[in-house]
Formats: sequence, C-alpha cells, structure tokens
Amino acid sequence: MGANLESSTCDLSGKVAIVTGGHTGLGFGTSVELAKRGARVYIASRSASKTEESKNEIRQEFPAADVHFLPLDLADLDSVRQAAEKFAQHESALHILVNNAGVMCVPYEETKDGSEMQLAVNYLGHFLLTKLLLPTLLNTTESVPEGTVRIVNVSSDGHAKLAPKQGIIFSDMNMKKDFSVWARYGHSKLANVLHAKELATRYSKIMSLSLHPGTVKTGLSQGPLSSTPLYRFIKPLVELGAPGPREGARSIIYAATSTSLTIERDNGAYILPIGKVAVASQAARDPKMAHDLWDWTERKTESLEH
Ligand SMILES: NC(=O)c1ccc[n+]([C@@H]2O[C@H](COP(=O)([O-])OP(=O)(O)OC[C@H]3O[C@@H](n4cnc5c(N)ncnc54)[C@H](OP(=O)(O)O)[C@@H]3O)[C@@H](O)[C@H]2O)c1
Repeated sequence: MGANLESSTCDLSGKVAIVTGGHTGLGFGTSVELAKRGARVYIASRSASKTEESKNEIRQEFPAADVHFLPLDLADLDSVRQAAEKFAQHESALHILVNNAGVMCVPYEETKDGSEMQLAVNYLGHFLLTKLLLPTLLNTTESVPEGTVRIVNVSSDGHAKLAPKQGIIFSDMNMKKDFSVWARYGHSKLANVLHAKELATRYSKIMSLSLHPGTVKTGLSQGPLSSTPLYRFIKPLVELGAPGPREGARSIIYAATSTSLTIERDNGAYILPIGKVAVASQAARDPKMAHDLWDWTERKTESLEH
C-alpha cells in the first residue's frame, strides 16, 4: 500500500465535482464515494436514463446525496462544448474534475469529426472538456487551500505496455493501418498521462494527476470482446481476483482528495493503486512530447469548431 489513505476520507461538503462516465463502472464508484463525502457531483454521461438509475442507487444508500446529470458525449465535440456551457449555467466553482470515461480496444471506427474512437473518447473529448472548464477551475483555486482543485485523468498501465514505444504517433494519430486495437488504446492512455503532465506545467495552481486504477471488473471488456474474439478465453484470467468498481475506485478517490499529495511535490504525477506515486513510461515522461501533443490537440480541436 502506498501513502496514507486515511486522508482520502475527507469532508467534501461545499465542493463541486464532475465525473465523466460517472453512471457506471469506475466512474460510478467514484461518484458514490465523492457524493458520500458531501460533494455535489455532476455525472457527465451520454445517457439520461442510466444516470437516473445511478442517482437512485446512490440516494438509496446516501439519501442526502447531491447528484446531477450533465449530458456529455465525448465522441462529439459539439456535445462537449454544450456540456461545459450547461455546467457554467449552474455552477461558478469546480473543485474536482475526473476525466474517467473511456472505451477500450473497440473495433476501428471514426467519429463524425473523423477521429478514431478511442483517441476521441479517451483523450480528445477530455482535452476539450478540461480546456473549457479551466477558467472555472482556476477561479476556484482563489478561494480554497492550495492543492484542493484537481484534475484526475484516469489512464491505464496500458500507456506503457500497449502504446507504441516511440510514443505519440503525430504522423498518424488515428493509427488506422499497421496498429492493433490494443496499440490504439495504449496510445490514447499515453495521451491521458501526457495531458496531466502538461496541465501541471501550464497551470501550477491546479493539481493535475493521472493514474492506473488497477484491473477492475467493469463493462470495459466489452471492447476487446467485440474486437478480439479470443479475449473471451483470456478475460477470466485477466479479471481473476480483480475488485468491483466500488473498491476499484479507491485510487481515483485518493488522487481526487488525498491531502497526502502536495502540489509542490506531486503535480503532474502518475499514480498506481493505491496511492503510490510511480514512474510513468519513458514516452509519458518526455516534456517535449507533452508540449507537442498539447499544441497538436489545440489545433485539432480548434479546426473542428463548427
Ligand atoms: N476496468 C479496468 O480494469 C481499467 C483498467 C485500466 C484503466 N481503466 C480506465 O478506467 C476508465 C473507466 O473505465 P471502466 O473500467 O469503468 O469501464 P466501463 O464500465 O466500460 O465505463 C466506461 C464509461 O465510459 C463511458 N463512455 C464511453 N463512451 C463514451 C462517450 N462517447 N461519451 C461519454 N461517456 C462515454 C461509458 O458510458 P456508456 O454507459 O454510455 O457506454 C461508461 O460510463 C477508463 O478510462 C478506462 O480506460 C479501467
């Protein structure tokens, strides 16, 4: 076990959080735990009905839970812009942004903007959402103790094990040919780590972190089951002994709330379960790659403004 986990049981009354994909899987585990600690939680999801079910489940356990639906489809940058606008209509502060939603190893598909699905959902949509929320996050830092305002990118150890060794493939970001669904997943997760590192460089008042949550039994395996038929034989082994989403979310809660993490020492850190500041892959530690990826992504998202 890593650092002291006790501090992650803090009181979050008066704090506002957004959890993408917060209605299911690790996102649901995160929403419950943040709501339980008193935060107002916006579940950013593309499904109103699934979110309603999740809200009911949370309120059964914690009747006072303050949980809301924020419509968001990360594969659609217009939807991302609308989500940021809608949030700003309701809230003037944002303390915790958990960029959690994701897809893994889905068959090759492009969004309506022409981006490969894993890159789009796991990274591009989150980059734009974060960018649009940055003014609110920065404003919030003025009224709370240092290190309170956090951006948590839920990445994966796949950023190291599955991404191309050379790192970000700027010449072929969709990786349509010559790459597997697994390499595309790892690439998008590498982008999550680099994004958190570059956020920490550019915005020193916000604590930006990335993490691997560990192997957790969730719906994520639907992706490889659809792209890689043999995965059904491997899945039981991969998930052997793995926790469910409630327990699996502990690393996310740690990153989002623990006072053991300090902005001077840990901003931009990559965290392993549970609460261990760890060394990310060589590519993920390359400051030029982080900088270039930021620039590429800004140009990309700006070029897709309608
Ligand atoms: N589970 C693991 O072992 C593991 C390991 C390493 C990293 N992770 C990371 O953990 C994160 C959470 O995954 P999970 O394991 O909890 O998987 P999950 O149960 O499949 O949850 C994924 C979430 O992402 C949402 N999502 C997918 N596409 C979306 C889109 N276009 N717009 C908005 N939301 C979208 C899903 O919503 P819908 O219900 O609408 O599809 C769902 O809420 C992911 O980033 C994943 O890479 C998980």
